[in-house]
Amino acid sequence: MSLTSGQRVLPTKIFLTVSTQLGNNKTVRQMTTRQAIEMKEKGEKISMLTCYDFMSAGILDRAGIDILLVGDSASNVFAGHETTLPITLDEMIYHTKAVVRGVGAASGRAMVIADMPFMSYQLSSEDALRNAGRLMKETGCHAVKLEGGRVASQTVKRITDAGIPVMGHLGLTPQSIYKFGSYKVRAKDAAEAGELLTDAKLLEEAGAFALVLEKIPQTLASGVTTSVSIPTVGIGAGAGCDGQVLVLNDMLGLNENFKPRFVRQYAKLEQVISDAVKRYVDDVRQGSFPNESESY
Ligand code: KIV
Repeated sequence: MSLTSGQRVLPTKIFLTVSTQLGNNKTVRQMTTRQAIEMKEKGEKISMLTCYDFMSAGILDRAGIDILLVGDSASNVFAGHETTLPITLDEMIYHTKAVVRGVGAASGRAMVIADMPFMSYQLSSEDALRNAGRLMKETGCHAVKLEGGRVASQTVKRITDAGIPVMGHLGLTPQSIYKFGSYKVRAKDAAEAGELLTDAKLLEEAGAFALVLEKIPQTLASGVTTSVSIPTVGIGAGAGCDGQVLVLNDMLGLNENFKPRFVRQYAKLEQVISDAVKRYVDDVRQGSFPNESESY
């Protein structure tokens, strides 16, 4: 059993037989930080999606996703804010609890990582550790994620030294959107690319178990991936990363108008939901819902 520190799932939850679902006696092992690193070593790609609620978490876990990220993108896609800045630690805890319950009620295999929201880790390493501890203790998640390179490395060390696994996040870091001034691709010039590579190494040294690389040139992402021993998970960073992450709402096509180049829409759910609701509205208006068999 390979468990990393910080994982507090009961042994019965770590290995479970899913013979009823798979029709055989295959045993599913819960995804761990150690396993993510082993996947990189073996050249196996890591799949990660964002998730913010109980039911989606169950569906994604049963579908075989490796990692669920309770992203602070909940601020945009769940709460409707323009940026990720407004979401609070308490709101992240609420979403993460729901996702952990969803995975627990499904196969229990996916690792759940919670984003540390804006200003929950920037003030001091002490404050960051306290807030990372709240996320872990109150939600049952398996790791936290935070944004930033050299400026965050001491904090990453403080948190990982306390036994809490940390995923770093480099490139386009949405909590700094007002500093960047746009959502354009980052690190296109040699100076910023060099800094990003150094940042990746600093985060690895500080104890991060993985890195998200967001919206950077694919050649740089591939270079970072081969320069560090921890897995990189890309979003808009090309195929050379050790894994990929997308925002669930984007890949499901819940907002048809949002189609940036790096998103592949695997469904067109806005259309599916809209058609279903239109049919329901018609049925209610015409009095054909409910019918006899739908009544008591
Ligand atoms: O909050 C989020 O959804 C993220 C992903 C884009 C990596 O950080």
